[in-house]
Amino acid sequence: MCGIVGYTGKALALTPVLEGLHRLEYRGYDSAGIALTLGAGEKLWIEKRAGKLGNLEEILGNSIPQSHSGIGHTRWATHGGPTDSNAHPHLDNEGKLAVIHNGIIENYVELRADLEKRGHTFKSETDTESVAHLLSDARKAHNGDLAAAMREVCAELRGSFTLLAIHSDEPGRIVGARRNSPLVVGVGDGENFLASDVSAFISHTKRALELGQDEIADITASNIIITDLAGKVLPHNEYEISWDASAAERGGFEHFMLKEIFEQPKAISDTLLGRVSGLDESVTKGINLEGIDKVVIIACGTAFHAGLVGKYAIEKWANISVDVEMASEYRYREPSVDNKTLLIPISQSGETMDTLMAMRYAKERGARVFAVCNTNGSTIPRESDAVLYTHAGPEIAVASTKAFETQLIAMYLIGLHLGRVRGTIDAKLAKEIEAELAELPAKVEQILETVEPLRALTREFKDATSMLFLGRHVGFPTALEGALKLKELAYMHAEGFAGGELKHGPIALIEKGTPVVAILPAENSLLAEKMASNIQEVKARGAVVIAIADSPFAAADHLIRIPKTHEFLQPVLAVVPLQVISYEMAVARGNDVDQPRNLAKSVTVE
Ligand code: F6R
Repeated sequence: MCGIVGYTGKALALTPVLEGLHRLEYRGYDSAGIALTLGAGEKLWIEKRAGKLGNLEEILGNSIPQSHSGIGHTRWATHGGPTDSNAHPHLDNEGKLAVIHNGIIENYVELRADLEKRGHTFKSETDTESVAHLLSDARKAHNGDLAAAMREVCAELRGSFTLLAIHSDEPGRIVGARRNSPLVVGVGDGENFLASDVSAFISHTKRALELGQDEIADITASNIIITDLAGKVLPHNEYEISWDASAAERGGFEHFMLKEIFEQPKAISDTLLGRVSGLDESVTKGINLEGIDKVVIIACGTAFHAGLVGKYAIEKWANISVDVEMASEYRYREPSVDNKTLLIPISQSGETMDTLMAMRYAKERGARVFAVCNTNGSTIPRESDAVLYTHAGPEIAVASTKAFETQLIAMYLIGLHLGRVRGTIDAKLAKEIEAELAELPAKVEQILETVEPLRALTREFKDATSMLFLGRHVGFPTALEGALKLKELAYMHAEGFAGGELKHGPIALIEKGTPVVAILPAENSLLAEKMASNIQEVKARGAVVIAIADSPFAAADHLIRIPKTHEFLQPVLAVVPLQVISYEMAVARGNDVDQPRNLAKSVTVE
């Protein structure tokens, strides 16, 4: 969702601000804008446009304003459509104060009505503009202190927000605030940054400061002050960013998504590193697993599918009941949860609002929280008792690939860990699984070496209107993930079904020529024959079957072979051809692969 960058320092600000916005493009947006401070007392420089950053750059031409401080924004529309006037930054009535915002101000209707009564005029339909007017009044009341104004205004706001503000009378100063929405400080040499995430400034500095809930960052080129809403100065919590700038670049691949698909062997081995034969204290020390009587996994979208696979593994190996819940639904049905519940939120970004809110609900009721997350310093791990970080590196394409693979690995590692702690997993079986886990990177590599025929086959189905995905056991969540990827990228009807469920209704969808992707259970497993029958059922009704299997399968119209592995680990391999199908379909249909329409990478609103 919205991308936010602030820069103050020795460089001309337009360049790092624009560069930061480009690096945040992956978050998804539909308009963009920049505001810069010029000399003290001079009017702010501001430009904003609907559409992609290219539209904004077109009007900027080659001119670079003589400014060393400013803010930039990519907006994913919520309140008001993606127009020039709704694009951020928003100004106060004097045009001296500019604000950018990510999130939602829930009480904006009443705030706006009140401001209008006091004579403020509005130029946009956004919830954000009210903040510019409020800050303007509050700054005057605080003798021109923008940080004091921000503290006062944040106390009045309801909802979730990251805010950055600048004022023309204070060039060089940027004030930021956050509540339930991400904001990090980048610490440079003679320059400092504020941004939605570290990728915005990673090519300038690897030093970052975490900001907590309801904290205010007041930065200049040489100084950083962090306070709470009461104005109390807080210590700096600095960390080193382990990603390098090249990790956030395409590196010769046509799209980030393709690059990230090919990075999966490394992402898996990095996530497994030092953990295959057990999670060490550095991961588990914050969490007491004794006496838990159920596990609840909460997540959204792709991460939810990883959770579903986790359920199969954890229930089997740790002999404990596991519920997997869509985070967006969880807290609203007021589920029973207590201190015997182990809650596992799974989130690539660590900022997904639905997951965060569900997690807080459970935590308030005593649940012990063991998060799985890919982003250091993000909100979900900060608020958890323990974290298993996945090491996928930055995932830039909106559609998740390598993060999903590493979330699966995290599920297996937690399943094995719980099995060992609870004494429920047979030592020989654990050893076998560990050995199979260690082989996964090479097996994914093997699949990636042979994807060209699959890309060609996918193009044959370019004009299909619908594609169905079938699986059983762990193949079922894999099928759900395949269908989600295809919807996101190809904008076509796609659904995943459990093979055995077809005859209870969905089989009515099959007509002559309907492509059906079937994920076959491991050869000789209990369900292999049952799935073969399900495939015959769809074939008999005219479906064209593309089978993903670890052994020959004569009934398939097209067979995609994957290596054999332990049956619970199969999704790690089977999902790779599914990712390639959706990638190729998007390319063939001329869709935007890395930023599919209507989607945002980090969903920071409920
Ligand atoms: C799909 C996708 C989304 C995310 C979901 C959760 O390709 O990326 O479904 O998986 O929005 O995001 P995180 O993992 O950041 O909480």
